[in-house]
Amino acid sequence: MSSEVFKENQGAVDGLGGVSNRERFRQALRCQNTGRPPLWLMRQAGRVLPEYRALKEKYSFVEMVRTPELATEVTLQPIERFGFDAAILFSDILVISEAMGQKYGFREQGGIEMEFTVDGAAEIDRLNEKGVADRLDYVGKTLPMIRSALGDQTGLIGFSGAPWTLANYMMEGGSAKEFLKAKDLYYSEPKLFERLMGKLTVAVTEYLQMQIDAGVDALQIFDTQGGCLAAGDFMAASGRWIGEVIAGLKNAPPVIVFAKGVNSDWKGLASTGASVLSVDWTVDLAALRSELPQGVGIQGNLDPYLLRTTPEIVAREAGRLMESLNGFGGHVFNLGHGVTPECKLECIESLVDTVRN
Ligand code: CP3
Repeated sequence: MSSEVFKENQGAVDGLGGVSNRERFRQALRCQNTGRPPLWLMRQAGRVLPEYRALKEKYSFVEMVRTPELATEVTLQPIERFGFDAAILFSDILVISEAMGQKYGFREQGGIEMEFTVDGAAEIDRLNEKGVADRLDYVGKTLPMIRSALGDQTGLIGFSGAPWTLANYMMEGGSAKEFLKAKDLYYSEPKLFERLMGKLTVAVTEYLQMQIDAGVDALQIFDTQGGCLAAGDFMAASGRWIGEVIAGLKNAPPVIVFAKGVNSDWKGLASTGASVLSVDWTVDLAALRSELPQGVGIQGNLDPYLLRTTPEIVAREAGRLMESLNGFGGHVFNLGHGVTPECKLECIESLVDTVRN
């Protein structure tokens, strides 16, 4: 260990005489971790936690997202309960659409409902991509509150949706059985598609820059809809814009790119400037490792379904996953997608114990 790293580690340690959780997370993002992998879970805050449900009795999701004290409290809930190595800002990818002029809300029967659908030049031109950071200033207030509560102990992750995934929700007007409208635009009206994606890229870049300036340790770009594209079109329809976002950031910490279901063009994904690729549970991590350029880390990829089974099954499968990577210093342990309401708390506990010990 270099003396510089050693000095940094002296601040907050985890009781085992090792590095702090935050430092372990930061090292893994740079492929320099020498101990167990750091662990956090996508959607770690939310409906699976009784303490979240209790707050939800009093406040709506959007209220919690928009109130720095509440967003901070919800962000910290999974850290207090499970001691994850990193906290992720409690928010949603759709705050960007809201800041551009298209509000989101929830349907009675579940799912997202946007105020209107973006389905032509008129709505695209009406979207305001300038000044989104000002309209999302509550996030700028929340992040320093989280940071000061976490101190030096725990990492802090900011995030945004990828332009492609945002375009899909904005064009469908919310959750949809099939996401087809953004594809329609990409194939039939390339110029208009570029206009929309250009605006989203400006908005996402400005928003992530604000999060960097507020001191996050990492950023994650969620491209949950990336996998609906044909392999040969992913880079043009989505990867290119993710690359433009990352290239536009100043003083950026490592960026994690989660393009769910995009599992063939690893070099293309890495060429976006991602430091770490977050992958779903259909990918063999050991095989992926041998295909990635040197210095690119891997995040994932336990099947979230397993958190519905038993603590024993979780321990076995998490152990197998870690063994397959054989001490690779660039592994951030996570699920292959988010925690769902059906996941059992005792299974999450088992996962935490297994990764820790
Ligand atoms: O990961 C985290 O813990 C951080 C917070 C976060 C949320 N959503 C909180 C949330 C993040 C990073 C997201 C990302 C997000 N939001 C994505 C991309 C990744 C993914 O998981 O697919 C997408 C597509 C959205 C849009 C969205 N928000 C959907 C489809 C839903 C579910 C709607 C429903 O009724 O099931 C949400 C709601 C949402 N976002 C919840 C949480 C905790 C649940 C809200 C609740 O019921 O309390």
